[in-house]
Amino acid sequence: MASPATFARTSRIFNRWYGRVFSRNPYPLYRFLRRRYPVLRTPIGFWIISRYTDCYNVLRDRRTSTFDMRALNAFPPDDGLRSMQTLLRDALQFRLPPDHTRLRRVMGKLFTAASLETVRPRIQKIADRLIDAVIDRGAMDVVADFAFALPVDVLADVMGVPDLDKPLLRKWVKTLGVAIDPAASANDPGRMVRETLAPAKRYFHELAAERRKRPGDDLISLMVEGQARGEIACDEEIVCNAIFTLIAGHETTMNMLANGTLALLRNPEAAARLRADSSLLDSAVDEVLRYDSPAQVTFRTATEDIEIAGRKIPAGAHLVVIMGAGNRDGDRFPEPDRFDIARPDNNHLAFAGGIHRCIGEPLARIEGHIGFETMLRRMPKLALAGQHEWRRTMVLRGLVRLPVTF
Ligand code: HEM
Repeated sequence: MASPATFARTSRIFNRWYGRVFSRNPYPLYRFLRRRYPVLRTPIGFWIISRYTDCYNVLRDRRTSTFDMRALNAFPPDDGLRSMQTLLRDALQFRLPPDHTRLRRVMGKLFTAASLETVRPRIQKIADRLIDAVIDRGAMDVVADFAFALPVDVLADVMGVPDLDKPLLRKWVKTLGVAIDPAASANDPGRMVRETLAPAKRYFHELAAERRKRPGDDLISLMVEGQARGEIACDEEIVCNAIFTLIAGHETTMNMLANGTLALLRNPEAAARLRADSSLLDSAVDEVLRYDSPAQVTFRTATEDIEIAGRKIPAGAHLVVIMGAGNRDGDRFPEPDRFDIARPDNNHLAFAGGIHRCIGEPLARIEGHIGFETMLRRMPKLALAGQHEWRRTMVLRGLVRLPVTF
């Protein structure tokens, strides 16, 4: 494994080039990788997987486990992601069975169809309120005015955070969201992450105590009740998973809404078709998730020697699964670079797969459905206005800004 200094240098160079050249359009690079180096060992010892079938299989392979967080010890001490290491170690995504199974059973109760049916009208209200706030202006930044705000407010709602405290969540996701991307975290002082985590942890400790006294039908209450039954180990487990859910549920959903709006506005015939036929909304959400996947990458660690596409990968190796590349693989998706809101057989990888497949998927789908439907219906003249800008990230794919008129 590379030293922290090599890591820092490689990250900085990668960040500069990736940021300048590839973040606008990573798909030609992905095509090159799929064709020439479908299983590529990088200088820092991570293995990159880019073909659909290999990504699909690795995500479900029992000989790979969730990413081993100890790998972050090789990152520079002030790296943003490394500064989240202890939080992430407790988070659902980085736990192994049986702890993963135990935690997922408790948290999963929030995402059942019955539970989400009661959330749906509240999401519609949030979407309408955001559009009400800008409708007389005739112009907005889709990212700042809609895509950023909608998932924070929804998360506050489903986590049992009172309205008054929403500004705190908005502040925290701004710092913590970007830091989970290694391309960004290398340039992001860990100090900011640590200064954000301390009050966020205190806040969720207090909220857990409050929900113990006055339970509701939210995530924190579910975890507090799970703790009383012995299914949650300690307060720290509640707090870390609350903060992780906030990060995991915000960045991704924000990117889905903004990337999808951009794709629809660049393909006006698709937007017109969707306006005319709302039965296509669910399939349009899937196509947005495939076409510009909000999370392009996830990680695994091999627990045994494995072979992928004829290459031997040793136990302990870290795998970079580029779902965003698999989702544009022409061997799986006909005309992969075409945005087709009625695409049949669209079994994309945007929510990953296997035991860690995104737990928030049903909620994200409702947010996408309501978000796109509300924008298209209430803004019949929605159009691009000026330059959009992609964020210089690698794991996440999202926009800094997306100016529109309507
Ligand atoms: C469009 C929106 C979303 C996308 C694209 C997305 C994508 C993902 C991906 C790729 C993973 C990693 C799975 C793996 O490595 O196997 C994941 C895990 C996770 N996501 Fe999402 N996500 C979205 C929305 C949400 C929402 C709304 C929530 C919660 C409110 C959420 C909470 C989580 C959690 C807790 C995990 C860890 C699951 C586990 O390890 O068992 N996500 N998500």
